[in-house]
Amino acid sequence: MKIGILGAMPEEIAFLGSRMGLERQTRMAQRDFLEGTWEGASVVLAYSRIGKVSAALTTALLIGTFRATHVILTGVAGALDRALRVGDVVIADRLMQHDLDASPLFPRYEIPLLGRSTFPCDLADSALTAAHAYIAEDFRRDVPPERAAAFGMSRPNVRRGLIVSGDQFLDDPAEGARIRGDLPEALCVEMEGAAVAQVCYEMGNVPCAVIRVISDDAGHSAAVDFTRFVRDVAEFLTGGIAARLVQSLHEEASRQDV
Ligand code: ADE
Repeated sequence: MKIGILGAMPEEIAFLGSRMGLERQTRMAQRDFLEGTWEGASVVLAYSRIGKVSAALTTALLIGTFRATHVILTGVAGALDRALRVGDVVIADRLMQHDLDASPLFPRYEIPLLGRSTFPCDLADSALTAAHAYIAEDFRRDVPPERAAAFGMSRPNVRRGLIVSGDQFLDDPAEGARIRGDLPEALCVEMEGAAVAQVCYEMGNVPCAVIRVISDDAGHSAAVDFTRFVRDVAEFLTGGIAARLVQSLHEEASRQDV
């Protein structure tokens, strides 16, 4: 087992990057891939940059070149579901691209010639368990109550469901309303997840998890809220949950080896 972990921005993978046992660093396709260990698990870490193409390329290299057998994407997202608050965690059980439209040649949202529009996340259950464990046991240690309060956060809620991805930072309430209307099950919006899940699917159903922490409400103040949240809090929640998931996947694999 080798677990590939990616984040679109350095802050989203800094938690693991600064704590892992680094064995090798390789520069490829203008990215750095950090190989090493985390709590005994073999990991490879990469910062992909923002957007679906960047994430797809990074995921393909993680699987094809660095031999990742499992992939975890972690980072922040804008809320679509009205009940979500800044700091809440969303675990994808499936993802799709909200900005893909090759109609009338193909049904809206369908990947042309692949015949599907959503992609599953096989590690959703394990990621959900990791999120609950992190929040119950580590969150208060990593994010002091005063800092959480500055974002109106107390104890984050965890949800599981559809995440949608597109190559736009969403800060227009009208566009948010359109996505909510067209895809009412979508919990949150970001810019990479559906690409990662599609590459995992096409490269042999590699099990993947997409872990998102809400940084903003995808409305007028999204960019300001996003920037503050990424600077002050995101590293711990996104990285802490991913680290828990790595640990549990490794423990599960070690039990199966015995
Ligand atoms: N990631 C975090 N917030 C986002 C937003 N509002 N739109 C797209 N991606 C995001």
